[in-house]
Amino acid sequence: MSRILDIFTKDALEAARANNTYRSMRLMETPESSRVKIRMPNGASQEQILLASNSYLDLANIDELKQAMAQAVLEWGTGSGGARLTTGNKTPHQELEEFIAKFKGEESAITFNTGYMANVGTISALCGKNDFIFSDELNHASIIDGIRLSRAKCFVYKHNDMADLERAISAAKAEFSTREMPTENAAINATAKQDARPFRGLIVTDAVFSMDGDLANLPELLRIAREQGVMLMIDEAHATGVLGKTGRGLAEHYGCAHADVTVGTLSKAVAAEGGFVAGPKQLTEFLKNKSRSFIFTTAMAPAVAAAACNNLRYIEAHPERVQNLRDNVKFFCDALRREGVNVDLSPSAIVPIVIGDEAKAMQVSAKLQEQGILIPAIRYPTVAKGQARLRASLMATHTHEQLQIAATTIAQIIKSTN
Ligand SMILES: Cc1ncc(COP(=O)(O)O)c(C=O)c1O
Repeated sequence: MSRILDIFTKDALEAARANNTYRSMRLMETPESSRVKIRMPNGASQEQILLASNSYLDLANIDELKQAMAQAVLEWGTGSGGARLTTGNKTPHQELEEFIAKFKGEESAITFNTGYMANVGTISALCGKNDFIFSDELNHASIIDGIRLSRAKCFVYKHNDMADLERAISAAKAEFSTREMPTENAAINATAKQDARPFRGLIVTDAVFSMDGDLANLPELLRIAREQGVMLMIDEAHATGVLGKTGRGLAEHYGCAHADVTVGTLSKAVAAEGGFVAGPKQLTEFLKNKSRSFIFTTAMAPAVAAAACNNLRYIEAHPERVQNLRDNVKFFCDALRREGVNVDLSPSAIVPIVIGDEAKAMQVSAKLQEQGILIPAIRYPTVAKGQARLRASLMATHTHEQLQIAATTIAQIIKSTN
């Protein structure tokens, strides 16, 4: 191995191995669905009940949707050939954006190649170094990276703690009011301050928190945003296709108004790939002009855009799928409780089963896999120390029989592992 590569990488890899945070990939040998085959450490293939997927509606492997995507490849080829603002913008991209806007009940939508790029590109376009961002402490990494890129001053508020959020906004406003302009002359300074931009603040939060499965309190966030004169952005990565009677997300769940900026992904319940922002046309026009992760990248393949649009249409036509998912979450949580496992009824598709100890969580997950049940263990630094957990995520197509087997096996293994 070259010495220069060692200098850059060796310590980090050794440290990751030493503190049990070394990451490696599991090989899946079949398409994403509620039952999959995986390659086991001994090289053999084994069937597993998959309780680890973000494909909550299990749309990735439906014949009709696969055929529609294949048809789009035949019609539109394999790649887009350019950025959206050069030659990459094809009919499927436009149709997708129009459909997302309609599905989300917004004036307009803009797509990105991933949800990660949507968050990074939106936050860093909206905010700059003179601005303030208020971020829930459990927000996704893509929100955190967008904040870092923006260079705005960030206040991290306690998870879902609205009083702490209001405190943070007050603190930011106090800081803003004492900010000196770059001059030593007090009179000029006062005039400059009046001419300067007003206080600009952005609250940003996951709609469904990816490790806990709980929800942001949208009605309260809307109230605070309005009262304080700040903007509200929510990330519906785990909410689209999941929350609300027809899967339209957090606002449908609460029956309340929408956030100013709604971000989402097309890669989880929608089972395609890409990210989006939905909101007023002025917002999407702004992002087309200012968002670097929109501008400086090749457009997603038109067939991927077509697949995302077809899959969204399918969700609209099959609200029973969203209801099946909800029924399955309830059945699974009830089954776990009957077996003596302490879980809350999750409002989303994510059911965290907190084990506590990191090593025990890893052992439980490994033993489950041996028994044909795939649920990953999540541990520090993804969650707090001593809060290691199994992160079960459900699909609309799991059978009650599968879920009961999983609940019984989880309970037995937790009891027998020390
Ligand atoms: C809350 C949240 N936001 C954004 C993303 C990124 O979306 P994508 O996978 O489409 O990049 C994820 C997960 O991947 C997520 O969990």
